Amino acid sequence: MSQKTATPPRDGFSSRFGLIAAAAGSAVGLGNIWKFPYIVGENGGSAFILIYLISILCVGLPVLLAEFIVGRRGGANAVRSFKKLAPNTKWPIIGWLGIIAAFMILGFYTVIAGYTIHYFILSITNAFSGMTSEQITQTFNQFSSGYAPIIYTIIFILLSVIVLFGGIKNGIEKYTKVLMPGLVGIIILLVIRAVTLPGAGEGLQFLFKPDFSQLSMSAILDALGHSFFSLSVGMGTMLTYGSYISKKENLASVSCSIAIADTMIALLAGVAIFPAVFAFGIDPTAGPGLVFITLPNVFLQMPGGNIFGALFFLLLFIAALTSVVSIFEVIITYVTEELNVNRRKALLLTTLAVIVISIVCSLSQTPNTFLSFNGHSLFDWMDLLSANVLLPIGGLLIMLFLGFVMKKDEVADELSQGSKSIKTTMVYLTITKFIAPLAIAIVFLTGIQALFH
Ligand code: PHE
Repeated sequence: MSQKTATPPRDGFSSRFGLIAAAAGSAVGLGNIWKFPYIVGENGGSAFILIYLISILCVGLPVLLAEFIVGRRGGANAVRSFKKLAPNTKWPIIGWLGIIAAFMILGFYTVIAGYTIHYFILSITNAFSGMTSEQITQTFNQFSSGYAPIIYTIIFILLSVIVLFGGIKNGIEKYTKVLMPGLVGIIILLVIRAVTLPGAGEGLQFLFKPDFSQLSMSAILDALGHSFFSLSVGMGTMLTYGSYISKKENLASVSCSIAIADTMIALLAGVAIFPAVFAFGIDPTAGPGLVFITLPNVFLQMPGGNIFGALFFLLLFIAALTSVVSIFEVIITYVTEELNVNRRKALLLTTLAVIVISIVCSLSQTPNTFLSFNGHSLFDWMDLLSANVLLPIGGLLIMLFLGFVMKKDEVADELSQGSKSIKTTMVYLTITKFIAPLAIAIVFLTGIQALFH
């Protein structure tokens, strides 16, 4: 491990728009378009959304800002940034946990991401035409428990490699600057289609008229946990991106833009999905199958449904791609800096490792697999352990690091770049020291409890 004093010039984001496209691209993912709508559906709609918004504001956003601060100040990968800011301490463990979480999330996330390619092809070729709803369910069950997802997963991973190849400015930034506006355009089209369907009002009511009787304790915990996952925080992704942010940027305002973009897209995904689901009289509480089973049924009944279906899965694909590259980057930045290899070699090593993990995850979904423990497949474990355990621990530790370990003037300095206000530091430190850690600790303990029940 080389600890050079003279750092070579580092890659970095070249514009504010590029930075926001990349970071919002990381945040906006399957979490927004696949998971958010179905957990809203399972938890009774709008009252849940309200709790989710509060979680984003009080916990997700402060953690996001903390990652940017540590990343930009540390100016290196997730492990080394902590080594620089707190030498000879155990805090770099946060970075290590992040790298473990990155492998775990990539393991299951790329499998679902691969589904989007298959479903895009099925939609555009009108393969659902004439199918009954049982056949659509069967199509999904057969596909997801077979071996075909492995091929799509590998294709998806290789497509991410294309984006990652050019580095930050000439890779991630270059592609996300085009992909993210495309994603917004598609979602707006889908929203217009959904809200102009006869009978759409009921779906909008489900989304926006709060019914607090539906709200359970587990819904609150789901909301908090999901705010972490959705903002890509708690595992060093935003920290790594933060290390590539120029000193000119105002981190607080960039963080707010990202949180707003992420929340807006999740809400728009809800508006694109629920009015259509209600308009065709389909159950909104379908769970994880909502997107791959319920929606093809919806598109089948809709005029021009195969085109809108294809657009929807393209949207899901773009969202997943821009998230997957950000998770990859945590590992690649680490490998290049700590093992002292060039980006190409780091990319090759990481890709091979991720392909192996993803194949194992995908195999754990097949029947008669031995890759299942305690009633959950390995695939489910990767999801549960990363979202319910590693992300909250990472978020909690980084808040404590910022609140109690990092020097106050360093935090103030990072916060005041590109902005005049110093008062924000005090407010921010109060949130980081007390409010956020408490909330995260509660979610974490309950999340752990749920895992072993
Ligand atoms: N935020 C992404 C989503 O909503 C997932 C993600 C989690 C990305 C953690 C990076 C890190 O789908």
